Amino acid sequence: MIGRLNHVAIAVRDLNAAVATYKNALGAKVTDPTPQPEHGVTVVFVELPNTKIEFLEPLGENSPIAKFLERNPDGGIHHVCYEVDDILAARDQLKAQGARVLGDGNPKIGAHGKPVLFLHPKDFLGTLTELEQV
Ligand code: CO
Repeated sequence: MIGRLNHVAIAVRDLNAAVATYKNALGAKVTDPTPQPEHGVTVVFVELPNTKIEFLEPLGENSPIAKFLERNPDGGIHHVCYEVDDILAARDQLKAQGARVLGDGNPKIGAHGKPVLFLHPKDFLGTLTELEQV
């Protein structure tokens, strides 16, 4: 079921500082910030040869990463995202094994315009896990 690592998302308080760190210290190639009000975040993509890193900065009042940053004031890894061919088949297989799918259990259109689901961190090694159909 599981395919490529699509991205690792890092929640940050200050997008500009995060970009400067990756640009200056690591020489990384980064995109311009993209506000995604429907997801409550502003995103910067760090392009790596084999995958992406996404910096997520809270946007608006009810950002889904606000609580995470309260618990992790320095920021930190928020989730990992794996690619799957068929997200509904993956969901049904996982649910049959007792895994919890967040929200109403139906895929939503994610930050890349593709269907995504999030799996409960308690079922996946304490790590919020996103599946994206590619
Ligand atoms: Co993601």
